[in-house]
Amino acid sequence: MHRENYSGNKRMIIDPKNQTFAENHKLMIGSIVPRPIAFISSISNNGQNNLAPFSYFNGVCSNPPTVMFAPGRRAYDGLTKDTLNNIRETKEFTINIVSEEIGEQMVACATDYPPNIDEFEISGLTPVPSEKVKAPRVAESKVSFECKLNQIVEIGDGGAGAGFVVIGTIVMFHVDDDVFQDGKIDIDTLKPLGRLAGNSYTKISEIFDIVRKVHPD
Ligand SMILES: Cc1cc2nc3c(=O)[nH]c(=O)nc-3n(C[C@H](O)[C@H](O)[C@H](O)COP(=O)(O)O)c2cc1C
Repeated sequence: MHRENYSGNKRMIIDPKNQTFAENHKLMIGSIVPRPIAFISSISNNGQNNLAPFSYFNGVCSNPPTVMFAPGRRAYDGLTKDTLNNIRETKEFTINIVSEEIGEQMVACATDYPPNIDEFEISGLTPVPSEKVKAPRVAESKVSFECKLNQIVEIGDGGAGAGFVVIGTIVMFHVDDDVFQDGKIDIDTLKPLGRLAGNSYTKISEIFDIVRKVHPD
């Protein structure tokens, strides 16, 4: 680490190679905020349901409608998570959006339970059948996507802290009538939770517009 003092702003300059992955992780999860949360349901080849939240999650493009999320290797033993193992097996999953109302249940699904544990049962959330994929959706989510695997990109050396990017194509949208207004998602009804660092979350509390000029004059 060294320092810079540029125009009166004092800053640390940190080369990630000179610190642990846990220290790099803290810088990332504290800075990349707020993060959307993908509540991912998957199912193994032998029919075992799994449900877990992932906040390294975003859209990729809309034609075809594509999303990504990043299940890391477990920080304490480097093993891959059940969600990734199931998606490798079945090439399918669902993404369920987390509203304020189901925050507690979502966190209950974020413990690294063994693969034979069904987090729908742990959390009391309700699995409902999907139309095009075998993994069930979360009935309590106001928006869900059924997804087919596009590809899995492995990142890192296979050790703890390394990870994967899972890219999926949305093959079906499920949107509650309540949140669908004028062809758009109504954010005041969706009430999505955002993830911050550690055990902290944020609600949408203030919305304002900054108008963008789409084309140059
Ligand atoms: C809100 C939230 C977001 C999370 N985001 C991620 C993430 O982006 N990547 C990851 O590897 N783990 C993430 N986790 C931890 C996983 O949810 C946790 O390891 C879970 O037990 C994995 O379950 P599985 O082994 O059944 O797939 C997150 C946890 C919470 C509570």
